Amino acid sequence: MTRVALLGATGSIGRQALEVIAANPGLEVCALVSGVSPLDDAAAQHPAALTQMGGDPRPLLEASEPDVVLNAVVGFAGVPATLWALEHGVTLALANKESLVAAGELAVAALRRGGGALVPVDSEHSAIFQCLEGHAVEAVHSLVLTASGGPFRGRSREELAHATVAEALDHPTWSMGRKITVDSATLANKGLELIEAHWLFSLPYDRVEVVVHPDSIVHAFVRFRDGSALAHAGYPDMRVPISYALTYPERAATPVPPLELVGRTIAFEAPDLEAFPLLRLAREAGERGGTFPCAFNAADEIAVAAFLEERIAFLDVPAVVETALARVSGSPARDLDELQAADAEARRIAEGALR
Ligand SMILES: NC(=O)c1ccc[n+]([C@@H]2O[C@H](COP(=O)([O-])OP(=O)(O)OC[C@H]3O[C@@H](n4cnc5c(N)ncnc54)[C@H](OP(=O)(O)O)[C@@H]3O)[C@@H](O)[C@H]2O)c1
Repeated sequence: MTRVALLGATGSIGRQALEVIAANPGLEVCALVSGVSPLDDAAAQHPAALTQMGGDPRPLLEASEPDVVLNAVVGFAGVPATLWALEHGVTLALANKESLVAAGELAVAALRRGGGALVPVDSEHSAIFQCLEGHAVEAVHSLVLTASGGPFRGRSREELAHATVAEALDHPTWSMGRKITVDSATLANKGLELIEAHWLFSLPYDRVEVVVHPDSIVHAFVRFRDGSALAHAGYPDMRVPISYALTYPERAATPVPPLELVGRTIAFEAPDLEAFPLLRLAREAGERGGTFPCAFNAADEIAVAAFLEERIAFLDVPAVVETALARVSGSPARDLDELQAADAEARRIAEGALR
């Protein structure tokens, strides 16, 4: 039996994880965590699980003795659980990309000390993780993350000026939580993923490329030094990478059908960095290092929440993040307290930039 602590159990990933767990008799839920939503349904299905809404999840994680922590919390709030799992050598199935973006250096150090495994749930990173299996790092030339391009692919900056919340939430290929869906529309999500890939696979930013692939069938490529490239393909369905992370190194069955190829054409194009500057800003923040990625994430969280409340326009989202990045100190964080201070500073500046 693999004991799974599920954080973010009421969200899009959390609900799909519960489905995957229900279909796999080798998995059992030992802890359920949400932010503010009641956990009644999930708790009824898993009466032995410890439950908690909001607050510091670490005492609950200690008490529930998980083999795997599935971190599907949204945003910076996921950082303590990520660091806890890595520090304790407990396998971390990571959907909460924001924690690795914000706390990359601390997380890598905790992983090294804890000696456990970090298995990505983000579909692109799960794809790369799988393509890399059995290959030496020295053989890798570069990584390619694919992006659907979101609902506004092909639109110019001018056309995006009046983009509405409803349009931004209407993702063409993936069904996800509201924050990541807006991040997909601005391409901030791909920026977060770029930084996530840097930390997960220890490659410099100039060896991680992003291409737009509207069908979301090929999730990523790994290019090798001999000129070959391995791709990972499948339907856009998060149950596949969730199941992979929860059963790694096994590959359990899922209800997702085998990929049908006949009649399918797949295309790739370059991202439009003028219309979607958050991808460029994320790359710059990543390259600058320190707590600039943490500030990128914090400012983006503030700006996306304000956009969802219709307090700012779509194009204000990158503007707020750019302002915050220009004003923060970006100095490295030596521990969680310093990281939380950097996050708070960026949030304050971003809040100020909303007005
Ligand atoms: N959805 C996808 O397909 C997808 C794909 C790849 C990666 N991801 C990543 O997975 C994470 C979750 O995404 P999602 O789409 O599932 O988001 P979501 O639907 O908005 O769900 C977020 C979950 O986090 C919980 N939460 C929020 N604040 C919390 C806090 N302070 N403490 C504990 N729990 C808290 C929420 O609880 P409440 O319900 O109580 O608010 C909810 O269960 C994000 O980092 C996202 O980038 C998602």
